[in-house]
Amino acid sequence: MDIEEKIRTLQEKVESELGSCSDAKGVEELTVRFLGKKGEVTSLLHSLKDLPKEQKPLVGKRVNELKGKIQEKLEAALAQFAQKELAARLASEQVDISLPGKRRFRGNRHVVLDLLQEAIDILVGMGFSVQYGPDIESDYYNFEALNFAPDHPARDMHDTFYLNTETLLRTHTSNTQVRVMEACPPPIRVIAPGKCFRNEDVSARSHVLFHQIEGFYIDREVTLADLLHTLKSFFSKLFPNQELKIRSRPSYFPFVEPGMEVDICCFVCGAKGCPICKHTGWLEVAGAGMIHPEVLKSGGIDPEEYLGYAWGFGIERLAMLRYGIDDIRLFLENDARFLQQF
Ligand code: PHE
Repeated sequence: MDIEEKIRTLQEKVESELGSCSDAKGVEELTVRFLGKKGEVTSLLHSLKDLPKEQKPLVGKRVNELKGKIQEKLEAALAQFAQKELAARLASEQVDISLPGKRRFRGNRHVVLDLLQEAIDILVGMGFSVQYGPDIESDYYNFEALNFAPDHPARDMHDTFYLNTETLLRTHTSNTQVRVMEACPPPIRVIAPGKCFRNEDVSARSHVLFHQIEGFYIDREVTLADLLHTLKSFFSKLFPNQELKIRSRPSYFPFVEPGMEVDICCFVCGAKGCPICKHTGWLEVAGAGMIHPEVLKSGGIDPEEYLGYAWGFGIERLAMLRYGIDDIRLFLENDARFLQQF
């Protein structure tokens, strides 16, 4: 085979082998096979030394040209495959940044506890300190010390869960009053937030478990006007978007005298009358009054020297008013669709 033929066959061989290459790795193998140290083109170059002297420069030039061509071809093929492979990788790893992200559910505080905390923050800002009474309470602190006689009909109002004859689940946060009086001398300005329990038929309006905040202030010169002003300021801060009006109606609780229910003007309808305020323009929000002298005495405080006011309001009721919720049972059903809204 003369040298020209060898060159042509080699060239054809490279072309046909390249044609059946399917990836960059294949091209790299070809590069080694033809252009490597022991490659076919390289050995052809080596074989030139056996040629007659005068042929060497010409043939050498031809083989070098061949080498250059093959190199170019292989490099071009390599570049093409590399680009194809990159494009394929980019396509397979493509991220659609316009897709919405996956949100992790982080949970949130229960709407009732949230509002409870908000109310506590407001009242602390108004100078009250926080005390917690026990959920499991003696008959004494829940009733007797609060001027409920043993057979007092008011006890029936409370539908109490008794654990035994002496112990019960507190029916209101008022159980904290005498405990605090026993523990600290006046002046006392305390709120007592917490859970309350009543053995009631569960309905849209009442439940066996709910939350209250008790507030009381005992000092030498405490009046009903202080009580009403404090409640008015508090509710104005809790429902800030309206000029808030407040009113009181006489009511009975054994541990206050006089006792009353406190209403605020209905902010749902602007006091025009709506189903929420039962078309009265007013919303009942708290029981309140001046602490009964007998209760002060139970707490070791001289009613001749000191006076006090007290109030208690329910948090669920406030949450229902604020968010327009018409069924108290929703708070305890643990339906995440309901709870996640807040
Ligand atoms: N403890 C009463 C209730 O649960 C509310 C109240 C508290 C009333 C303090 C007067 C004074 O209904």
